[in-house]
Amino acid sequence: MKGIVLLGSTGSIGRQTLEVLRAFPQEFRVRGLAANTSRELLLRQAWETRPEAVWCGDGLDANALPPGTRCVDSMEDLVLLPDVHLVVVATVGLSGLKPTLASLRRGIPVALANKETIVSAGPLVMAESARTGTPILPIDSEPSAIWQCLLGEKQEPSRLILTASGGAFRTRPLHELATVTPEEALRHPTWKMGKKITIDSATLMNKAFEVIEAHWLFGIPWERIAVVLHPQSIVHSMVEFADGSVKAQLGVPDMRIPIQYALFYPRRMPNASLPRLDFCSPLTLVFEPLDTHRYPSFPLALEAGKRGGTFPAVLNGADEVAVALFLQRRIAFTDIPILVQRALEAHNPIPNPSVEDIVEADAWARREVLRMVEARR
Ligand SMILES: NC(=O)c1ccc[n+]([C@@H]2O[C@H](COP(=O)([O-])OP(=O)(O)OC[C@H]3O[C@@H](n4cnc5c(N)ncnc54)[C@H](OP(=O)(O)O)[C@@H]3O)[C@@H](O)[C@H]2O)c1
Repeated sequence: MKGIVLLGSTGSIGRQTLEVLRAFPQEFRVRGLAANTSRELLLRQAWETRPEAVWCGDGLDANALPPGTRCVDSMEDLVLLPDVHLVVVATVGLSGLKPTLASLRRGIPVALANKETIVSAGPLVMAESARTGTPILPIDSEPSAIWQCLLGEKQEPSRLILTASGGAFRTRPLHELATVTPEEALRHPTWKMGKKITIDSATLMNKAFEVIEAHWLFGIPWERIAVVLHPQSIVHSMVEFADGSVKAQLGVPDMRIPIQYALFYPRRMPNASLPRLDFCSPLTLVFEPLDTHRYPSFPLALEAGKRGGTFPAVLNGADEVAVALFLQRRIAFTDIPILVQRALEAHNPIPNPSVEDIVEADAWARREVLRMVEARR
């Protein structure tokens, strides 16, 4: 049985990962679970899966755990448990960085949903993966699609083409964006996801994060990664080759499909609970160019990714706080890129940063955005 550590088990990806694991009780054994504040759900998951250990950011009453399960001091401790064969990193923000590096250092493959880890520390994470020969298996649907399209190809592709739904406000008049509410922004047209990534989809920050993720994961130069809007989210991404031929990966927008692919890679397993595309019903696939006036976060984030050093960590930290402030109704939707841009402009970058430099840059960006918002009062 494959031993699994699942970090972020109480979140959207974490719960869907458990759903897939539940469908294959003979194949997987949960060795460790981690969450931040959702104590009750984490305990319920622990009683169901009987892991060796759990970690909770807010702490747990050890007496409430099932017999044979203990608490550990960090997510890295979970990665060090015996009989772990795959670590699923489904936390948000920079919290996934240290456990990802710990897992790669130990030679345990990482199934990575937490794109912020690669966005903030791409060179460090890829260097550790290369040094130890340990694979990173993308769970994010677009990088997963590209990964699947590249399998079996001997030559470098000429282009990666990532698709983007366009989020909640693709057709909303531009002058209304300053007054949209968190509830409206959270109404994603095609995917059901956690709050942070849903807001990042509405600003298209999420798509820039995926371009940065694809650049590092697949080693493709920036100028050969394109993005197109595709409102149906059926084509998850495409790869174009030297002869003009294009391979695409399609499927119903359901994260359990790329999650299952990463869990079983390289096997493909039948799972009756996963939805299938119905080509007998009318199906229209639309592709549109991206309008950067509507999505100012996109070029801003891409530029930070290209500049490298600690800029991507600042991008990520600043965005996370700005999104949280928008959800708390303390700033407008259109303030998100403005605050992120100001944090990037105020930053003194460090080239070739260490893990500590990245953690510090992330923390600085969070403080800086809060300071700017407080100063407005
Ligand atoms: N949801 C999707 O469909 C989707 C698709 C592609 C990629 N992703 C990526 O997958 C990651 C997870 O997204 P999500 O939508 O599942 O988020 P989510 O629903 O907000 O869940 C986040 C999980 O991480 C835990 N967590 C939060 N802060 C943490 C911290 N500081 N330390 C440890 N754990 C922490 C949360 O615990 P609590 O419940 O206790 O707060 C929860 O278990 C993100 O990087 C996202 O970009 C998500």
